[in-house]
Amino acid sequence: MSSSLLHSPLAATLGIVHPLLSAPMAGVAGGRLATAVSRAGGLGFIGGGYCDPEWIGAELAAAGDVPVGIGFIGWRLAARPTVLDLALAHGVRAVLLSFGEAAPFAPAIRAAGARLVVQVQSVAQARAARDAGADVVVAQGSEAGGHAGQRATLPLVPAVVDAVAPLPVVAAGGIADGRGLAAALMLGAAGGMLGSRFYACAESLAAPALRAVAVAASGDDSVRSPAFDRLRGWDWPPGYALRTLANAVTREYAADPAAFERDIDSARIDYARAVATADTERAAVIVGEAADLVGDCPPAADLVVRIVAEAAACLAGAAALLRRDA
Ligand SMILES: Cc1cc2nc3c(=O)[nH]c(=O)nc-3n(C[C@H](O)[C@H](O)[C@H](O)COP(=O)(O)O)c2cc1C
Repeated sequence: MSSSLLHSPLAATLGIVHPLLSAPMAGVAGGRLATAVSRAGGLGFIGGGYCDPEWIGAELAAAGDVPVGIGFIGWRLAARPTVLDLALAHGVRAVLLSFGEAAPFAPAIRAAGARLVVQVQSVAQARAARDAGADVVVAQGSEAGGHAGQRATLPLVPAVVDAVAPLPVVAAGGIADGRGLAAALMLGAAGGMLGSRFYACAESLAAPALRAVAVAASGDDSVRSPAFDRLRGWDWPPGYALRTLANAVTREYAADPAAFERDIDSARIDYARAVATADTERAAVIVGEAADLVGDCPPAADLVVRIVAEAAACLAGAAALLRRDA
């Protein structure tokens, strides 16, 4: 496979065929998912998330010599910087940093010959990413599954494109099919990065019961809540919120946050049990507003091919929207 139906500067920057990335979903995107996307012509990111060296080492080993990227949660990487060395020693193609400072890590990433991809939630963060030496900026809207900022994808992407031109910008948040990818390209993005759609694919590390809930859900069911971060004990900096599907846990938090905090110790034990047993009413199902567009759990490679073909068809069909008699 040497060419894509979609032309994008991202292909040359990241050494890929299709302008489609799978997101570094913490604990959900392992080596199998990332390599499946990369083999299909996109770039798959391992979800290095909270920087557990054992998990990261195992998933990098599972990726073998297939080119993949890896993503880290920036504020956590600042506390555990040695996992970056692990990834760079493996020879990852790209490192994606979100939710923290990129500048301290840029020299090591550049020296290792990897690309620096920075996911941002605002125009100001996009400029800071450019100044830190990012090769690619991902503009993430708050529709996204997982943590995100305050701004929506549709106005954020073109604003970031204008702010950091000519750097390639990738759109993320709410894209789950070819229509979304085509729309992102029309906004000036060089590609799309998808998380929720790949949460429900065959190679995802999310438990099958949780994936089934994601497939059945609507974006109407998605909420942003501190509840799961409180239960997991992650102390996120202000300005970010976790989007998941609503369930008993988010409803209990919304009904009485003070009571939720009072019972936090026993709730943490219940939560660990819920995760271990894939209890869909109490474990987090981390998908975003694109849930309506997540209707099956196919192999990741099929998704890449399907989404690129749909996007190309959308773009080809767009000319039909132009009036010829005006
Ligand atoms: C299950 C899940 C876990 C995520 N974990 C991370 C993470 O650890 N680091 C990160 O930068 N982004 C993470 N994200 C956000 C993605 O990078 C991306 O911005 C988002 O998935 C795009 O929106 P979408 O879910 O609508 O496709 C996660 C998303 C999901 C769905």
